[in-house]
Order: sequence, then C-alpha cells, then structure tokens
Amino acid sequence: MAIERTFSIIKPDAVAKNVIGEIYSRFEKNDLKIVAAKMLHLTKEQAEGFYAEHSERGFFNDLVAFMISGPVIMQVLEGENAVLKHREIMGATNPKEAAAGTIRADFASSIDENAVHGSDAVETAQREIAYFFSDNEICARTR
Ligand code: PPS
Repeated sequence: MAIERTFSIIKPDAVAKNVIGEIYSRFEKNDLKIVAAKMLHLTKEQAEGFYAEHSERGFFNDLVAFMISGPVIMQVLEGENAVLKHREIMGATNPKEAAAGTIRADFASSIDENAVHGSDAVETAQREIAYFFSDNEICARTR
C-alpha cells in the first residue's frame, strides 16, 4: 500500500475543548505519523484562500468566521493510505451522520463546528500542505 501524506486541521472548537491530545492519540493509534505541525490563529485572508473553492456556497462567510474565531493546530500526517484513513478516523462532515468512535462523533457539535479538517484526495493534500508548510518544515520520520 502506498505511503501518502495528508493535511489535517484541528479546528477552533476542538482546540477550545482542549482535546488536541485526544485527537493526536487517534492519529498515532492508527499509524499516522505527524511529520509537521504548527499552531496558528488564521487571518481572514488565509481562511478565505484555503476555502476558496467554496466561496460561492451559502455557508462560506460563516465557515471563514468560524475558522478565524480562535487558534487551530494544523499538521501533515504520513502513513499507508493516509488520505482515506484520516477521513475514516474523522467521520462524516455532519457529526450527526458520523460513525460512532470517530473524531467528529465524539468531539464535534454541528456541521458548522465540526472539529477537524482533512484533505479529500492526494492531489488536494499536496496543495493544502503547500498552502501552509514549506518543504523544510516537514520532517522525515524514518526511525
Ligand atoms: S461538499 O458538499 O462535499 O463540498 O462539502 P464538504 O467538502 O463536505 O464541506 C465543505 C467544507 O465546508 C464546511 N462546512 C459546511 N459544509 C456543509 N454545510 C455547512 N453548513 C457547512 N458549514 C461548514 C465543511 O466542514 C467543510 O470544511 P472542511 O474544513 O473541509 O471540513
């Protein structure tokens, strides 16, 4: 199976709930290695640029406002089949539809404040990683 990288954000609601460690633990238990990480309070411009593909959607302004409402932690995760595996661990976008035991089922309160973001494809991951991380901020984890 291919070793992939995916991009992950722990959103402001989950940071405020103080469950960063609980979420990191789920990555580690599922053999996803953190190869880069940073905490940021996004600017409006950063959030609008990151979600640009959704700019025509009715929820866009609310999504941007939420994403700049407090700090986030973003990370690059590496592992076998990382993109799909990470999405399975996160659960459905709407926490009401998320499978039991997923991050969103356990920590998200609504579709508007749903705890985590994860890339939906390898190509998206490459673009999203490059949006926030330079190559020299991503570490090899060979040991
Ligand atoms: S879609 O329909 O497949 O494009 O939607 P999706 O990729 O699942 O969601 C796009 C991002 O917008 C966030 N968001 C919402 N989506 C749908 N409805 C509402 N009301 C809404 N509010 C916010 C959703 O969480 C996705 O953000 P990320 O960061 O990718 O999880």
